Amino acid sequence: MKPHNIKLLSVMVFAIYLVTGCSKPAETGVVADKPAEASTAAAGTYYDDAGLGIREETLFIEAGVEPPESSFPTAAPGSTEVIERAFSSAPPQIPHSTEGLLPIKTDNNACTGCHMPSVAAALNATAVPESHLEGGDLDNARFNCSQCHVTQANVEAIVENTF
Ligand code: HEC
Ligand code: HEC
Repeated sequence: MKPHNIKLLSVMVFAIYLVTGCSKPAETGVVADKPAEASTAAAGTYYDDAGLGIREETLFIEAGVEPPESSFPTAAPGSTEVIERAFSSAPPQIPHSTEGLLPIKTDNNACTGCHMPSVAAALNATAVPESHLEGGDLDNARFNCSQCHVTQANVEAIVENTF
């Protein structure tokens, strides 16, 4: 074969590669640009910026985004009803206001003033369970009550909890 024929052959092979090689991504939907509609299962479903989050607009612009209005209990301890637990052994939610009780500090934990077993019954408060105690005293691992116990916000749920 003459040298210029070899050149011609390689140009043709390259051209065939270009045609088949380039058309492949378009077929499987693996393209950089937005496909016309949700692509095949193999390629995955396509979501654009506005379809990724729960607010139906692009997630890249924060200006003007406002969280839904919410409020927290204002009733003082002793004047509320306990909240049903979400599931067995879930840390019960705090039904009363925590105004003036938080943050908990090493030298000031107001919660213990009403919830330690020695005083709870007299105050009509639920006593901390056995799991929170170490030799009759509060276990240090349970000192920071608000790490696990929280108040229930009065807010319209954006996503319903189906747990
Ligand atoms: C002045 C006393 C008092 C203080 C201080 C207090 N509580 Fe209470 N707590 C109560 C009473 C009484 C109840 C029962 C509901 C009611 O009567 O309001 C209660 C209920 C609870 C419950 C629900 C218990 C259940 O059985 O479901 C939790 C959890 C709780 N409190 C956590 C806390 C935490 C955490 C703190 C500290 C931030 C705290 N409490 C501070 C008196 C108090
Ligand atoms: C590490 C997480 C954690 C911390 C910290 C913690 N708790 Fe709890 N608490 C729980 C869980 C989980 C339960 C439910 C388990 C159970 O019923 O034994 C619970 C249960 C309770 C109950 C209900 C007891 C009952 O018999 O119904 C009260 C009251 C309570 N905690 C108060 C407190 C107080 C007050 C503090 C701080 C001094 C505190 N907890 C710190 C996780 C925690």
